[in-house]
Amino acid sequence: MIGRRDSFPVLERVAYLNAGSVGPLSSRTADVMADWERRSLEVGRGAHGAFAARMELREQLRQRLALSLEAPVENLALTGSTTEGCHIVISGLGLGPEDEVVTTDAEHFGLVGTLGSSGAAIRVGAVADRPPAEALEAVLEAVTPHTRLIALSHVLWLNGHVMPVAEIKRQSGLPVLVDGAQSVGAIPVDVTAADYYTVSGQKWLCGPELTGALYVADPDRLRPRLVIDAAATGIPERTGGARLEMLFHPGSLAAGFLAAVEDLPADRFERGAEITRYCREALAAAGIRVLSEADQATLVAFTTDESPDLAVEGCEEVGVVIRRLPNGWLRASCGWWNTPEDIDRLVAALS
Ligand SMILES: Cc1ncc(COP(=O)(O)O)c(C=O)c1O
Repeated sequence: MIGRRDSFPVLERVAYLNAGSVGPLSSRTADVMADWERRSLEVGRGAHGAFAARMELREQLRQRLALSLEAPVENLALTGSTTEGCHIVISGLGLGPEDEVVTTDAEHFGLVGTLGSSGAAIRVGAVADRPPAEALEAVLEAVTPHTRLIALSHVLWLNGHVMPVAEIKRQSGLPVLVDGAQSVGAIPVDVTAADYYTVSGQKWLCGPELTGALYVADPDRLRPRLVIDAAATGIPERTGGARLEMLFHPGSLAAGFLAAVEDLPADRFERGAEITRYCREALAAAGIRVLSEADQATLVAFTTDESPDLAVEGCEEVGVVIRRLPNGWLRASCGWWNTPEDIDRLVAALS
């Protein structure tokens, strides 16, 4: 079943183009989750065996994610979201008003809200309305001698443009926090190029909601501000990335996330890139104003003459799911599971 479109029941009827919000769920992932819930009903959620199984599962999940991200397992923390990962890093750095953080004008609230809560001074590089080739300069221009951290997305959620995170790190020499919500599972990533890299499980990895991870290059340098019971993380002694964890996922979420990651096809990035190219070209050929540059990630932003809300509703009426962004743009998320027929249905729905 790995890599097969018919693993995802939603795709039988719907041209599902919104993994940038939440990816499709496979039957196997849903079944694994349901099995866990059923077993909890039968053996009791607090049974010793149930806890032991949950802890074992958590370790398996860490190992599988480490393999998939090509990162050492001791540098990973399991989280519930990218937003949680950002909070772990920002609070753990203990930033104050005398510190500056450089970010961009195209960040999601998951990062923006976290930075706002830190009390640090925020400096913003303008990348949203510029080609990705100018992003490096835009970010570095905002750096000053007071900059303690650069925090930005690898892939901008507004238009799918890819930010040169490794080069930003190299040229600035500063710690870099990467919001990986729109990159992990969508494009090849090297999380170890950053100091901190967040993962959302529910988007391009097709995991359940409230799953995710965080890569931390040097976990001992962060001072966790919210500390939970050591045993709750599934290892008696909390060391490495695990000492930053704040969530003991219910077994169904951990099992579902593990199943989803296990089932990712090896050719997912090539397939995603190909269907994104097809989408961009098909929209442009239909006279639609495309706002994403070619050969970036797997999000395609565009506008039509119609009101964005009406466009999204009109699409949904004919079984095409896309997203309206807060700035009024429309966004199609193109996953390895999508076909040219899905895109043709989108174009027809917009025409
Ligand atoms: C760039 C970006 N960052 C963060 C988020 C929030 O992700 P999560 O729900 O995993 O915190 C999203 C999407 O919703 C996003 O697009």
